[in-house]
Amino acid sequence: MPTPLVVGNWKMNPPSIAEAVALAQALRAPLGAVEGVERVVCPPFVALPAVADALAGSPIVLGAQNVHPQPKGAFTGEVSGAMLQGVCSHVIVGHSERRHSLGETDDFVNAKVLAVLGLGMTPVLCVGETLEERDAGEASAVVERQTAAGLAGVEPGDVTKVVLAYEPVWAIGTGRAATPETAQEMIGGIRAHLVRLTDSATAAQVRLLYGGSVNAANAAELAALPDVDGALVGGASLDPDAFVAIARAFATRA
Ligand code: 13P
Repeated sequence: MPTPLVVGNWKMNPPSIAEAVALAQALRAPLGAVEGVERVVCPPFVALPAVADALAGSPIVLGAQNVHPQPKGAFTGEVSGAMLQGVCSHVIVGHSERRHSLGETDDFVNAKVLAVLGLGMTPVLCVGETLEERDAGEASAVVERQTAAGLAGVEPGDVTKVVLAYEPVWAIGTGRAATPETAQEMIGGIRAHLVRLTDSATAAQVRLLYGGSVNAANAAELAALPDVDGALVGGASLDPDAFVAIARAFATRA
């Protein structure tokens, strides 16, 4: 069983760099003390250097919320993987808020996965269906398509360097997490896809996260699921007590 992983996606929060530093400082001691789980926080780009300073020497590592696949060039407003090297170890790619609000395609997400891997960082590849797709009975097909497309061109030996996060769009920010049955069914489906892509021993080593309204109250039941190796947490990652409780729930998983 791989080491569990909890990732806090701060999204466009908190509203200032000073508050991001204060959040990191509040997390540093209690989250740093939770052993047996990898801990990643993903602040907004502009807060990354200040949060890196605030967490220097702690076991909490940094992730970025996005990346552009090209190494440099005329891409106004974008940030390359090379710029993130040395600051971040993880990069979220394919978040549904970017797929749906900003029109990111499967191909573009795949290019990001390959770029991040090529730079020796860990992509956290997000997949997940909308409510409309679920109601139409297409949830598994959508997640299978996003997983296959996102991993296209990844060498079988590199699949364990990718983290996948199943985030059903209808569960994000709604307070309505997937039931344990749905989370296990969908994430188990991703694991089965990885077995077909590689082999069962390799697929078992890939970290598969659940995301969507994870909180201190539901973390333990999610952590108990056989295929859920961690959580990608939005709103609750802005509350130090809640995020530490979520990390503790996954730390006791093994
Ligand atoms: P919430 O935890 O706020 O539902 O957000 C989930 C998410 O989108 C994490 O990437």
